[in-house]
Amino acid sequence: MKPEVYIEDISTHLGKEVTLYGWLYNKRSSGKLRFLQLRDGTGIIQCVVFKKEVSPEIFTLTDELNQESSLAVTGVIREDKRSPLGFELGVTNIEMLSNCIDYPIQPKEHTVSFLMNNRHLWLRSSRQFAIMKIRDEVISAINDFFHQRKFILMDTPIITPNACEGTTSLFKLGYFGQDAFLAQSGQLYNEANAMAFSKVYCFGPTFRAEKSKTRRHLTEFWMVEPEMAFYDLDGVMDLAEDLVLYLVERVLERQKKNLDLLERDISKLEQVKRPLHRITYQQAVEKLEQVGHAFKYGEDFGGEDETVLTQQYDRPILVHRWPRQCKAFYMKKDPQNSDLAMGVDVLAPEGYGEIIGGGQREDDYQTLLESLKKHDLSEEDFFWYLDLRKYGSVPHGGFGLGLERTVAWLCGTHHVRETIPFPRMLERIIP
Ligand code: 4AD
Repeated sequence: MKPEVYIEDISTHLGKEVTLYGWLYNKRSSGKLRFLQLRDGTGIIQCVVFKKEVSPEIFTLTDELNQESSLAVTGVIREDKRSPLGFELGVTNIEMLSNCIDYPIQPKEHTVSFLMNNRHLWLRSSRQFAIMKIRDEVISAINDFFHQRKFILMDTPIITPNACEGTTSLFKLGYFGQDAFLAQSGQLYNEANAMAFSKVYCFGPTFRAEKSKTRRHLTEFWMVEPEMAFYDLDGVMDLAEDLVLYLVERVLERQKKNLDLLERDISKLEQVKRPLHRITYQQAVEKLEQVGHAFKYGEDFGGEDETVLTQQYDRPILVHRWPRQCKAFYMKKDPQNSDLAMGVDVLAPEGYGEIIGGGQREDDYQTLLESLKKHDLSEEDFFWYLDLRKYGSVPHGGFGLGLERTVAWLCGTHHVRETIPFPRMLERIIP
């Protein structure tokens, strides 16, 4: 068995008899007619069963079918201007592959926890279909963006011997009698890759044992991380801006139907135009003060701070030059002000908050060594990372864009849990 035709390609089969394989999404009847909504994972088509055109057994079968019964439906493709697809199937035969009894997800309101427990089935709904299609579009747009710019995709290890983003959010593993951890970021290895190949990126799952129970936190999420030799902070910000704009344009251009299905306010995405706002951390704090939002200078922004801040702007903002104490050990010290780190966060509008974190890296051996010590990280563990500053060190930088947060913003979904097939969160590892 192998499907020859999928619903998404149906327009090329107009007037022909085809067999579609799929699942019953919904059905209704009216006298001598039965209307079956068939979904095959690429789309949904209305299959019209007219009593006179099928055998009595087939007509009776239509009354026995349940939501999610699996079927092979044969019929002729005809135009149907009223359906969103523009086509329907005039049924001549139905083969039931497997009936479905008591499908748990019914066309009614369910609680989030019920839907999450049934994530393996929830994925079949049209809303989840739209989100996953947009996720897939963003992934392919990311790869196109970097390949068009001649970046090389270089995979970085998932099992790592030490921390990149602080020791408090590490998942620990046993590794043949040694401690090892799941990667929080591919950045450190990517810096070595950039010294070998100049423009590189990695794109894979990253892990954070964060005790945060918010709508923006997963414990396993996907991150794309470009790293570039001979880039300063401005160069890094230019690339981050180009990527964000490219992703918005691409989704607007190719995923309009799915954005509509999600009832996304597209005008908000259409506002995302060059230039994005670039403000310093200092200016961001002043902005928060102006609108009467309490915030202590020197701290990292929390979800609420980001929401208030981004509400002041119509498009994403790049916040750069952060107090060193709230950034990671590898950030370059600002040559103009040694209290600042040359980091940048990109915050998405409409309350979605940070989607990108990155900056220029410390390329001076001594300064990096001092920073490692200050963060209680061992010189021995990071010998290879220090070597990069010993053997032909160059200004360099990069960033990480969180896939799920970006998809949540583009889709307008409230919580990141719907933007990955099987979310891993503080209180969720099943299914
Ligand atoms: O700001 P972060 O921690 O930066 C890094 O990991 C750098 N090493 C990246 C680099 O420069 N190569 O994380 C980057 C992005 C965040 O902006 C956010 O979009 C996403 O990763 N992110 C998360 N997404 C979902 N759940 C979490 N717990 C996340 N933590 C970070």
